[in-house]
Amino acid sequence: MSTATAESQLLLDLATSVGREAAALVRRLRPEGRVPVADTKTSATDPVTAIDRASEELIRARVAAARPGDGFLGEEGDTVVGTSGVEWVVDPIDGTVNFMYGVPAYAVSIAARRGDQVLAGFVVNVADGREWGATLGGGAFRLDGTPRRVAAPAPPPVAHLLVATGFGYEPEVRAAQGESVARLLPQVRDVRRVGAAALDLCALAEGTVDAYVEQGLHPWDLAAGGLVATEAGVLLAGLDGPPDRRLVMGAHPDVAAEYFALVRACGF
Ligand code: IPD
Repeated sequence: MSTATAESQLLLDLATSVGREAAALVRRLRPEGRVPVADTKTSATDPVTAIDRASEELIRARVAAARPGDGFLGEEGDTVVGTSGVEWVVDPIDGTVNFMYGVPAYAVSIAARRGDQVLAGFVVNVADGREWGATLGGGAFRLDGTPRRVAAPAPPPVAHLLVATGFGYEPEVRAAQGESVARLLPQVRDVRRVGAAALDLCALAEGTVDAYVEQGLHPWDLAAGGLVATEAGVLLAGLDGPPDRRLVMGAHPDVAAEYFALVRACGF
């Protein structure tokens, strides 16, 4: 095993144990019925709950104890600049609206990166226990039960793609996204808006959707699931290079060029 791979595996092992502990905490703290909103962020419909914060605090504490020199970028707290060159990129609950309402698709998403390179990523759907993990160059795996490799299956033609997408929280942004999706919808099989980007990217990795497009993703929505997708053989792209806040498109290499051109033609 190369040193880089060994380091990535150590990072994935830590992400997995901390992610499982955070998922157990989220499960334990979730009350019956609707979870109350503690605060809002980018708009009145962008919620944070006390349990998002508790999950992030636990992840921060465990990572700081195990690797005190690392940086930390989390959705709900202050950024920590580290000294080791490794930075953790964490969404303590991706799919907070699903979590609030009890829609069973919300995840803990933990990645470790060096510069722009994501080295390890772990995603767990808290509601059903499915887990995905990946290391850079080491492949993508389902980690619940016996670990098994994840590889994106050969896709259907573009006109038959099942496309996952999502919307930002700001009203003007989502109005524009809705118009782009309306143009895409008649040209593919169908569209899914599950409500957790990390889970969308893991679904793309294992072929429970065929393609993905979203604008406005934050690093913590993208980092772990993005590595799972690319290590499963999916191509991810952005507006003019790697995916970023402006645009994330993903598809199997067999249809990627045609699908990406369609996405751009639809106005994304
Ligand atoms: C959101 C979810 C959603 C996506 C939004 C994200 P959050 O994350 O991933 O699917 O469409 O762009 O902000 O707010 O639930 O952590």
